[in-house]
Amino acid sequence: MAEVLRISREGEVTILEIDNPPVNATSQAVRRALIDAVQRAQSEIETKAIVICGAGRTFTAGGDITEFGKPPREPHLPDVINRIEESAKPVVVAWHGTALGGGCEIGLGAHKRIIAKEGLVGLPEVKLGLLPGAGGTQRLPRLIGPVAALDLIASGRMVSAPEALRLGLVDAVAEKDLRREAIALARGLIGQMQPRLSLRATPAAEPEAWQAMVEKVNREARGRIAPQRAIELVSQSLTLPFATGQANERRAFFELMNSEQSRGLRHLFLAEREAGKRPELAGITPREVKQVGIIGAGTMGSGIAVAFLDAGYKVMLLEADDVALQAGLDRVNGLYLRSIRSGRIDENTRLERLSNLAPTTEMGRLAACDLVIEAVFEDMGVKLELMKKLAGLLPSSTLVATNTSYLDLEPMADALPAPERFLGLHFFSPAHVMKLLEIVRARRTSPEALATALAIGRKLKKIAVISGVCEGFIGNRILAKFRAQCEFMLEEGALPREIDAAMEAFGLAMGPFAVQDLAGLDIAWARRKRLAGTRDPAERDVPLVDRLCEEGRFGQKAGKGWYVYDQGRRLADPHVEALVRAHAASTGRPQRAFSAQEIQNRVVTAMVNEGAKILAEGIAARPADIDLVLVNGYGFPNWRGGPMHYADGLGLAQILAMAKSAEARDGRGFEVAGLLAELVAGQRNFAALNGG
Ligand code: 3HC
Ligand code: NAI
Repeated sequence: MAEVLRISREGEVTILEIDNPPVNATSQAVRRALIDAVQRAQSEIETKAIVICGAGRTFTAGGDITEFGKPPREPHLPDVINRIEESAKPVVVAWHGTALGGGCEIGLGAHKRIIAKEGLVGLPEVKLGLLPGAGGTQRLPRLIGPVAALDLIASGRMVSAPEALRLGLVDAVAEKDLRREAIALARGLIGQMQPRLSLRATPAAEPEAWQAMVEKVNREARGRIAPQRAIELVSQSLTLPFATGQANERRAFFELMNSEQSRGLRHLFLAEREAGKRPELAGITPREVKQVGIIGAGTMGSGIAVAFLDAGYKVMLLEADDVALQAGLDRVNGLYLRSIRSGRIDENTRLERLSNLAPTTEMGRLAACDLVIEAVFEDMGVKLELMKKLAGLLPSSTLVATNTSYLDLEPMADALPAPERFLGLHFFSPAHVMKLLEIVRARRTSPEALATALAIGRKLKKIAVISGVCEGFIGNRILAKFRAQCEFMLEEGALPREIDAAMEAFGLAMGPFAVQDLAGLDIAWARRKRLAGTRDPAERDVPLVDRLCEEGRFGQKAGKGWYVYDQGRRLADPHVEALVRAHAASTGRPQRAFSAQEIQNRVVTAMVNEGAKILAEGIAARPADIDLVLVNGYGFPNWRGGPMHYADGLGLAQILAMAKSAEARDGRGFEVAGLLAELVAGQRNFAALNGG
């Protein structure tokens, strides 16, 4: 077995360096080596102090996620940390890179902590549906007070070195050489009594500040259990002895580990890291991209420009004329001003980023770009016209991408002399904020173009998922089925507010009808009108949006849509409900009440059935990719792991039965996915298709 702990000595200080690539996770071998080394150091006369540090890019990312869900193996991390704390010889921990989870808790067991200037520290367990399980909920409040501790534990956010110092989480920030300064700090402690956090009382909290933090955590938890358990455990640090608090924490840790929520979040963590690993792209070197051209500076083009500027690219922004260009620049500026107001960036950063932006109305200048993305109107005629112009202008090596939401990529590829460099880069609005990026592979897109797009996705810090070409790609195609199902229920006795309430209780930030009001119903209306001629008359169609739009109910911007809006407050409208009821009666379908559960099941079934078709057609490579799309682009609750993971938990036999009744009820347009039936017959699930 590789050596996971390197032991060396500098004079009277023994240095224990964790070396367990890629992220120094505290796996069993590391725990064993650490406890043995600390134990041994107690009896070595040469050793008078100990420094624990990490090799490579990071101190440690904490508990080994690949061990989770398996029977825990000794020595357990809390015991290792208790042993460190009890050391008669001073222990200093030197944090660099990221000191997360168990890595942070090791530091809390030590007698002093020092962090590198660029270092980050945090307890992100909550993001995996967990809580710190090695004393973090009990030691951190004793060190920095219960309010700040609850904030860090319940949010899972990482703090920078200066903030860690301000909070009292570290004793020092290294000026230059972390290791050297850690050794000096350890030397200074030799011969002194060492402070043990577990023996310290948690400082009392300001009642108002504590109450405000508790309310914030409850508000932001939105269905997640772990943050709520954090409140309970941090408050126990005020009243219970350390050992009792730690035992309670350990129990909570394992309960959460076995919870559906944690399984869902862990599934997404691994899915994110798998999404970019495509066997067919192994060994393909991405092309270097420095200068990006963006055509169209509307809602999307301006957001995409900011996303690239923020990631350090040079951006050329092209508009049709000076007026449109100025409007686009105002939008870009507006996005930056908002970031300044929210404290995310300062004025200097804004100026620095804008210095990489070249606005233009001269298309010829795009010839200098490595990648050109079009974000002009969603109109095939306009896009084809543009592609023809680009064909005569760009070297055939320039990558060309479209941000289209629905249009077919093939005719656009046909318009270019080298179609293998063409692909879709489907950003989500607002493009500089939303994490999801669908990379759309057209029939002739080259592996090099795809590998380059994945590399760009990483640099933009997006979650990039590859999709094949179909109407709406992965996300919008599933969304269409989800929405249709919600509208079908309106014809059977459900009201918009009931469906929204059921889906919000499921964990969506906003129900589907409220979302439509926010986006504007006129968009859906225009699309419906455009597609009216091609719609299959045998397909179930609900024309309620047309009725609302005919009355000028375009959504929030008109003050009314599916709801009415009173100073931003959404209120059910008896007029709309009467309209829905009258339409429902006109269909002749039986009317009845819906439970929240039935609404949720129907929506999930529609999504999963379509997801299975998308997989069978090869549009998505893995069920986990579909989960990433729905969670990161469409607000599907992350703690449910995405629709495909959730379906596995519900049982695919049940989903299949529900899909069959939907097929019987909804007819053409809702065919049961063959893959779903196959998986049930073979007693398999989506996880098996993920290779997990
Ligand atoms: N355990 C095992 N493997 C891990 C890991 C962990 N905690 N964290 C990351 N990895 C793996 C990733 O799966 C990935 O593997 P791959 O190369 O095979 O795909 C590799 O390390 C690199 O990870 P990233 O691609 O994420 O690298 P980044 O540099 O982008 O990010 C990071 C590094 C910030 C450390 C990020 O990986 C991260 O946030 N990790 C999770 C941290 C976390 O949640 N820790 C808490 C664990 S729970 C715990 O500590 C319990 C304790 O309280 C008892
Ligand atoms: P928009 O209408 O806000 O912006 C389009 C911009 O393109 C306008 O500023 C227009 O002046 C400019 N333009 C049109 N023709 C041009 C040309 N030949 N040369 C230079 N500029 C030109 O549209 P939006 O919403 O930004 O959408 C753009 C594209 O992004 C569409 O394909 C849309 O489907 C897609 N999209 C939109 C999303 C959204 O939420 N709005 C989400 C994801 C994709």
